[in-house]
Amino acid sequence: MRENPNEKKREHFASQFGLVMAAVGSAVGLGNVWRFSYITGINGGGAFLVIYIVCVLLVGVPVLISELTIGRKSGFSSVAAFKTLAPGSFWWLVGALEVFASTLIISYYPVVAGWTLGYVLESLTDWSFVTADPAATFAAFSSGWKAFVAAAAALLCSMLIVLGGVTSGIEKWSSLLMPALGVILLALLARSLSLPGAFEGLSFLLQPDFSKLGVRSVLDALGHTFYSLSLGMGIMITYASYMKKDVDLALAAVSIITLDTLVALLAGLAIFPTVFALGFDPAQGVGLAFVTLPAAFAKIPAGWLFSALFFLLLFIAALTSLISLLQVPIAFLEDSAGLSRTKAALVVCTVATVLGVPAVLSFGPMADVTFLGYTWFNLLDTLANVVLMPLAGFLGIMFIIFRFGVDASLAEFLTGAKKQDNLLARIYSPAIRWIAPVAMSLILLHTLSR
Ligand code: PHE
Repeated sequence: MRENPNEKKREHFASQFGLVMAAVGSAVGLGNVWRFSYITGINGGGAFLVIYIVCVLLVGVPVLISELTIGRKSGFSSVAAFKTLAPGSFWWLVGALEVFASTLIISYYPVVAGWTLGYVLESLTDWSFVTADPAATFAAFSSGWKAFVAAAAALLCSMLIVLGGVTSGIEKWSSLLMPALGVILLALLARSLSLPGAFEGLSFLLQPDFSKLGVRSVLDALGHTFYSLSLGMGIMITYASYMKKDVDLALAAVSIITLDTLVALLAGLAIFPTVFALGFDPAQGVGLAFVTLPAAFAKIPAGWLFSALFFLLLFIAALTSLISLLQVPIAFLEDSAGLSRTKAALVVCTVATVLGVPAVLSFGPMADVTFLGYTWFNLLDTLANVVLMPLAGFLGIMFIIFRFGVDASLAEFLTGAKKQDNLLARIYSPAIRWIAPVAMSLILLHTLSR
């Protein structure tokens, strides 16, 4: 193995709490807030929840562990991590895929993050405009100049945090923002559950309906496990490269999956009762967040306040995910090209702007311009999330099995662990050797057959 010349001067997360908050900040994103609850609802509620939790335990956890061990063992971000653990081979290409994918996402994620920021301000200053005709308001907002300013502001905020460094930027802000997100979530939850008629929303989310379960449900659960835990992007590898050797990775992994799943569940409980109590259709996606919910909030007293809080929650979720994404190409340029953090940030910002401007325009003047049948925004999203993320995820597992070694990975996992014989360590070997590859092949086959 190559000596790590970086080891001494590399920054480290100062506390276990801080690094868990940073990783949870990445995992808790827009997907937790609307996607999870929606796919749970359409796939039979409580029945799907069981499948999701099994997927998290048998596929999410082992892949998360494998990424954490690659990062911490090598002490490097993606690409350099693979080069360090497998010198003279082509495995670094897996890292390159991850850096490429995260850069693509950085180009369009600020667009959505910008909408959420814009809607916080609109709710506070122009509530009657938001609620007069929510669909028209959203169309006007996302196609106008405000969308540009908002996207640029979101990118700038996250960039400034990353420029602050791992400890005083990412760790400090995540430790502040994630608890704030928790408090906002609880406030929204209390409001939602106290609405008359909330029960219908609860049963949409939780009542098991086995007749709605099918092969599709398993694929949905697998795909979401991967997306929700921010796997296959080099994020967990990069964050783990800043972890000290005495960090208990088992505790970190358990905290990450528990908090990510808990936030997704609570967000569902905060959204669906509101939607049902007020008689709206729980349609998937952007429509739910930016059109249905403002319309629903308009019907409750002080709706503007709850709307502002909801979009603030979304903004925090998006911002901390964006931070983790930015750190991947920035750390790559620092570790592999020797650039300073500022120079690396400038390069990433320039690429994100060049690719991101047409992504903003995809909702305005470029709405009819398609590439392979997709708008530019959807092309970036599909390429990153549907193609590159599962591919990198699959190859990452192959790397563990055929090159790094499951036992070496497990040994790293147990370095710093308080209990050597923990449950995760016991399921890790069979899960990463057998279950995760089969699951990832299913996702890939499904992608290819689309
Ligand atoms: N994990 C985030 C979510 O649940 C999405 C995400 C994926 C963010 C990959 C960054 C990278 O919404």
